[in-house]
Amino acid sequence: MKIARIGIIGGGLMGREIASAFARWCAFTDATVTPQLTAVADLNPAALEWFSQIPSCTLRTTHPAELLASDQVDIVYVAVPHDQHEALYTQVLSAGKDLLAEKPFGIDLPAARRIRDAVERSGRFVRCSSEMPFFPGAQRVVEYAKSGALGRVLEVVSGFHHSSDLDPSKAANWKRLSAKCGEGGALNDLGMHACHIPLRLGWKPQRLFAQLQKGYPQRPDGKGGTAACDTWDNALVHCWTSIGSEDVPLRLEMKRLAPGATNSWFIEILGTDGGIRFTTAEPKTLHVFERGKEQWWKRTDLGFTTPFKTVTGGIFEPGFPDVIQQMWAAFLEERAGNLNGRFGCATPEEAVASHEIFAAALASQKEGRVMAL
Ligand SMILES: NC(=O)c1ccc[n+]([C@@H]2O[C@H](COP(=O)([O-])OP(=O)(O)OC[C@H]3O[C@@H](n4cnc5c(N)ncnc54)[C@H](O)[C@@H]3O)[C@@H](O)[C@H]2O)c1
Repeated sequence: MKIARIGIIGGGLMGREIASAFARWCAFTDATVTPQLTAVADLNPAALEWFSQIPSCTLRTTHPAELLASDQVDIVYVAVPHDQHEALYTQVLSAGKDLLAEKPFGIDLPAARRIRDAVERSGRFVRCSSEMPFFPGAQRVVEYAKSGALGRVLEVVSGFHHSSDLDPSKAANWKRLSAKCGEGGALNDLGMHACHIPLRLGWKPQRLFAQLQKGYPQRPDGKGGTAACDTWDNALVHCWTSIGSEDVPLRLEMKRLAPGATNSWFIEILGTDGGIRFTTAEPKTLHVFERGKEQWWKRTDLGFTTPFKTVTGGIFEPGFPDVIQQMWAAFLEERAGNLNGRFGCATPEEAVASHEIFAAALASQKEGRVMAL
């Protein structure tokens, strides 16, 4: 088993999630590479404290440059607010390291394009985080769509809903501020998740109309005062894409105000001969449509049939920490040349394509019309 030495920049929500995924790598039975967390950098010294429980993580610094200069780091994972993406991603590349970037891959489309160009110049291995397609149900959706079983595709819906912004007493954080999250708001926050599979299947939007909604204009700031919140919280993006020789409606839904939803990622594809739908609200369940003399929606429990094999029994349920691990296995195995036809992480090109959709959606909202891409 080869060792890949990883440094994390940004030890917040996602930095810790990734570190804990590495800590149970022994779950894999067919991995050829093991990640070892050697360093973490965060501007906030308090965020570093948590990483002291990981023995291999010997460099804990408030200076990202120190992590980037370390010869104990081969790959850097960066999980910081979106206004910091471009500077840190390009510094990782200049330091000669490979990169697993977080979505949305820059604060806006021009930033994403500059990062993509820097990646191409550097020759480094770079991918963008998007873990939901690694659910077994999502993998089956991709296989089914490629199989031709759909017949003529009639409609595609792909989205991500959560509801934590419904509570007006929830304190504001950087994700509610355009200066830090980007003008795209929920598009930047959730959009890569909704776009990843349609883009991977080659279903790029050609025209779109967007409906964007804002949430509460102010929230508690967590320090006894209030903070102004100016981001879009919900986005419905109605697109036309081209599949075969047909124009097909593709709807992308990104909501931070979705009553009842916690972290529900979903995709549904309907065709003349078949159909398929999966939601993480039912993480092991897959629904497949069959048209015969009678029409059927069939439901099956898939269990733990992940792309990268683990010790977890096949009857169990997959969850968020599992697909984070699966995504990292895909990153490390593809980097090592061992992906062997399995689903790879989102590419810089796919991340830029998602930003093209977000930019067109913002323009559509502003101008109230259909935009061509
Ligand atoms: N893939 C997913 O499912 C998923 C889920 C949540 C967030 N994200 C993405 O992860 C990234 C981080 O989000 P989060 O929720 O972990 O944020 P967070 O606020 O929980 O953590 C961000 C951390 O970065 C640190 N930081 C800020 N600027 C820095 C800098 N210049 N150098 C070093 N550290 C710095 C902060 O102190 C904080 O500890 C974002 O791009 C977000 O979109 C992805």
